[in-house]
Amino acid sequence: MTKFRFLTAGESHGQGLSVIIEGLPAGLKINEDEIKHQMKRRQIGYGSGGRMKIEDDTAKILSGIRHGYSIGSPISLWIENKDFNNWSDAMSSKEVDKEVDIKKQTKVVPGHADFPGALKYQHNDIRNILERASARETAARVAASSFARIFLSQLGVSIKSRVLSNGNVKDETDYSSVDWDFVEKSEVRASSKTLEKKYKNVIDNTKKNRTTIGGIIQIIASNIVVGLGSHIQWDKKLDGQIAQAMMSINAVKGVEIGYGFDNSSSKGHDIHDVLIPDKNNVKNFSHITNHAGGIEGGMSNGEPIVVNVAIKPIATMTSPLPSVDINTGKIVQAPYNRSDICQTSRACPIGEAMLILILTSAYLDKFGGDHMNEIKHNLDGFIKSHDQFGKS
Ligand SMILES: Cc1cc2nc3c(=O)[nH]c(=O)nc-3n(C[C@H](O)[C@H](O)[C@H](O)COP(=O)(O)O)c2cc1C
Repeated sequence: MTKFRFLTAGESHGQGLSVIIEGLPAGLKINEDEIKHQMKRRQIGYGSGGRMKIEDDTAKILSGIRHGYSIGSPISLWIENKDFNNWSDAMSSKEVDKEVDIKKQTKVVPGHADFPGALKYQHNDIRNILERASARETAARVAASSFARIFLSQLGVSIKSRVLSNGNVKDETDYSSVDWDFVEKSEVRASSKTLEKKYKNVIDNTKKNRTTIGGIIQIIASNIVVGLGSHIQWDKKLDGQIAQAMMSINAVKGVEIGYGFDNSSSKGHDIHDVLIPDKNNVKNFSHITNHAGGIEGGMSNGEPIVVNVAIKPIATMTSPLPSVDINTGKIVQAPYNRSDICQTSRACPIGEAMLILILTSAYLDKFGGDHMNEIKHNLDGFIKSHDQFGKS
């Protein structure tokens, strides 16, 4: 069982989202401004629908933190939906009168969870599916991960992300030469002014054409210890765990570690990452390149972990596709609700959240303890033990 886990609950237009986080050690100093800052990052995005203006997410801490420190108990959070007043009948937990508008949806949005969900759960109101399939749920994941981010930062790990492509506009720069301060300030999470302009243009044109576009985001974890994950069982492999976590993000349809896809069409001599010893300490090794994206044999190899995530275009469009009504069986136009044009920049903090959650589990698996001091001690001990490597 994973050492670190979290569960979320809540519908998109319901009263709010709740989260239970389990596994964070005691003794972690929690700065609530940092949690707020991470929640805000998820809301910034060019080409976002009107929902972002309504959402002013605050994760209220209900338990697990005392006087500014984690106490080792489960942490529970509550993220209130500021728009619930407008949905109190439609999303009421109680039965409502027949004449009340419950915002029933019977027309399928192709590419959304509507069709398989309605049939699987036997709902004649697709709202019962779309409310939970909505990416609103990812606010809860970002909230959970913001605690785990503090944990990782205490172990020296940092996580960042950028948009690698929007539609057919691509960022060709390698992650090692990116100005991350620029990315952080960019509404489209682009790595340069030129690219920012191109990303905005392609989003504006997409909007004019009344369609949507996807893209690729890149998430990077730096200063990672060697040896997270394991080669010994399929479910212990770090790359496998990361791929599953990323795939669980709404609209994600592909995951690549390092230059995974390019590597497959290259020669072995050109892509395998050669090791060299450190000048000062020959027992300290590093790789000349990082085509593998920091993972070999399902284990971190000490280089930054680089994950590229492909996101499909949003299914809800102002010029809708033809579809069906599940109750009448008739051909109809898919419905349109307020929706994003391009969600790549907003997906970045969500990708970061999922990488953080997997790495937190991996650190706890390897260096686990009940208090932060114990974990730091275990990590230091492991690093020092490398000096003994090779001695019998
Ligand atoms: C940040 C983000 C925002 C999204 N916003 C919307 C949206 O406004 N409208 C929509 O139809 N889908 C949106 N999606 C995608 C749907 O949630 C997703 O396509 C749907 O749940 C079906 O799941 P699948 O695409 O993973 O198969 C968004 C996804 C992300 C990551």
